[in-house]
Order: sequence, then structure tokens, then C-alpha cells
Amino acid sequence: MGLKIEGVGIYLPKKRLTNFDLEKMVDTSDEWITTRTGIKERRIAEDETTSYMAYRSALSAIERSGISKEDIDGIIVATLSPEKQFPSTACLVQEKLGLKDIFAFDLSAACSGFLYGLEVAWSMISAGRAKRILLIGSEKISGIVDWKDRSTCVLFGDGAASVILTNDESNSDILASKIYSDGSLWELLYAPLCGYINMKGRELFKVAVRSMEEACRYVLDKAGLSPEDVDLVIPHQANIRIINSLAEKLNIPEEKIYTNIHKYGNTSAASIPIALYEALEEGRLKRGDIVLLTAMGGGLTWGATLLRF
Ligand code: UT7
Repeated sequence: MGLKIEGVGIYLPKKRLTNFDLEKMVDTSDEWITTRTGIKERRIAEDETTSYMAYRSALSAIERSGISKEDIDGIIVATLSPEKQFPSTACLVQEKLGLKDIFAFDLSAACSGFLYGLEVAWSMISAGRAKRILLIGSEKISGIVDWKDRSTCVLFGDGAASVILTNDESNSDILASKIYSDGSLWELLYAPLCGYINMKGRELFKVAVRSMEEACRYVLDKAGLSPEDVDLVIPHQANIRIINSLAEKLNIPEEKIYTNIHKYGNTSAASIPIALYEALEEGRLKRGDIVLLTAMGGGLTWGATLLRF
């Protein structure tokens, strides 16, 4: 009995903010942002809230999985930009879906939130505590960046993606997974309550490459596989240079690395499931493929999941 991703859905705000738009807002340039990060544009939520984007992505995942929403036993929303102090964004999504008698909670692990969520959902499903979980990454980061701070405002974007997770008799499974944290490094990336994102980018960059490499090597080793066995790597989309360094360290060719950072920037907990959706849509991913997911973010938190899709 394994873990299957039955359906993936996304919601992206319509408003695009390009690097050229940002040139008019702060002292930056398309050239700087493109060469240092790989980002060309990002989506910005206007009247869309974190729970609304989460809900819309959930509807799309439910439709694509062919299940009925009543088949869902619980909702987990990974986010660093929750809609309210409380209740959880997950409870607001539950209300929008009109579901009763299920559990719903948020998970705070910043950009690693989706991988943390997978680990939690997998544990609950394997332990028989739930049959089917709706896992969502939803972010409205535009609401917590200082639009006068060029060192952070150019990096992030808004959006949401959902997956429906269940166990079944198919070949799909998590082959190995590991999540990590190091609270002693929290000051490298954080936002105070009701405040803006603070980031020590240069230090974070080095930790990001090192920690994701460690996590990837761990899960590959645990599963008895080598980097050549991987069909597709879907890394958290924070910086194209981080992704390229990681690929180089793992010796995985570019064509096996999925990137869409140029379109969306860093969407934190939504970044991996948005990329998963697009990889599927583009035919880059099919059932049975070996997929390596990895992320690193505030906490610091990081991890990797190796799955047979
Ligand atoms: O998702 C969670 C994980 N996130 C990450 O892992 C992010 C990791 N860090 C990074 O991606 C990169 O460090 C950044 C993209 C944040 C920054 O790139 P960098 O190459 O490390 O630049 P830097 O911070 O060393 O800054 C280089 C220069 C500085 O000017 P001086 O001091 O050399 O004169 C900055 O003031 O670039 C300047 N700068 C900018 N210039 C134009 C910083 N931001 C901008 C900007 N436009 N937007």
C-alpha cells in the first residue's frame, strides 16, 4: 500500500508584475533580477486572499482527481502568509468547500511547508488515521513584503496549489523522505508578527545549496537509488542559481530539472506543487516516474522527498 497523488490543481492570480514594472517602484533593473535570480515576472494577488486561492486550487485538484469533495478526510494548508492570526487558513478553506466532520489545520514550515505537509499527510494516511487528505500550499506573500526594500520585494510571488493524497493499490509511493530544521538560524529569514520579510540572502544562499544537497543525498541513499535513477527533480523555486548549483553538485543534467521561477518567482509553500502541476501539464512527468522534491526555507527548515509518481 503506497501513497498516491491523485490530482493536482493550481490557482494563480491574474495580475502579472514584471521586472520592468519593478524598475518603476524601486532602484533595480530587469538585468539584475534576471541574472541574480532567474525571475522575469511574478503573480500578485489583488482581491484574492490566501484561503480563496487555496480553495480555487483545491476545486481544480478535486476535479482532476475525479473524487467527490466529500471523500476528503482532512485539509492541511502549508503557508507563511496565513489569512488571519487565527483561525487557520485551512478552516477557512473547509468553510468554502462546505465540508463537515473533517480535520483542518495550517502547517508553518515556510518554503519547506509542502514537503513537511507531505510527510505529515503520509504519516497520517499510513497510520490509518485518514484515507484521503487535501494538502495545499497557498501564499499571499505580496502582503508581507516591504515594497520599498529592493533586496526582498523582487523575489516573491503569490499563488496556490493543491494535491489530493490517498493510499491505494497502485505503484505510486513515497520511496524516502526526510525533513530537517535548525532553529538557531531563524534570523537568516523571518517576518515578525504583522511585519515584513527580513532576509540575509547571501548567507541563506550557501545554506540552501548545502542543505538541499544533504537532504537529496539522504533520500536517494535511503531508497538505494542514485541521481541517474531520477526522472525529474522539482526543487523549490527560490533562485535559479541555487537550483543550478544543486543540479551540478548532484550531477543531474539540466533537462531533468524542472524550473518555472521565471514566471512566478518564489511562491514559498506553493512553489513545488505549482511546478508539479505544470510538469504534468507539459508532459514532463508521467505515472511511474521517479521524482525528487527538495526545498529549503525559513526556520530554517529543509527536506527532500523521493517518490514514484
Ligand atoms: O525561499 C527560501 C530560500 N531563499 C533563498 O534561499 C534565497 C537565497 N538568496 C538569494 O537568492 C540571493 O542571495 C539574493 C537573490 C537574495 C541576492 O543575490 P546576491 O547575488 O546574493 O546579492 P547580494 O545580496 O550579495 O547583493 C549584491 C548587490 C548589493 O549591492 P552592493 O552591496 O554590492 O553594492 C545589493 O545592494 O546587489 C544589490 N541588490 C540589488 N541591486 C539591484 C540587492 N537587491 C537588488 C535589486 N536590484 N533588487
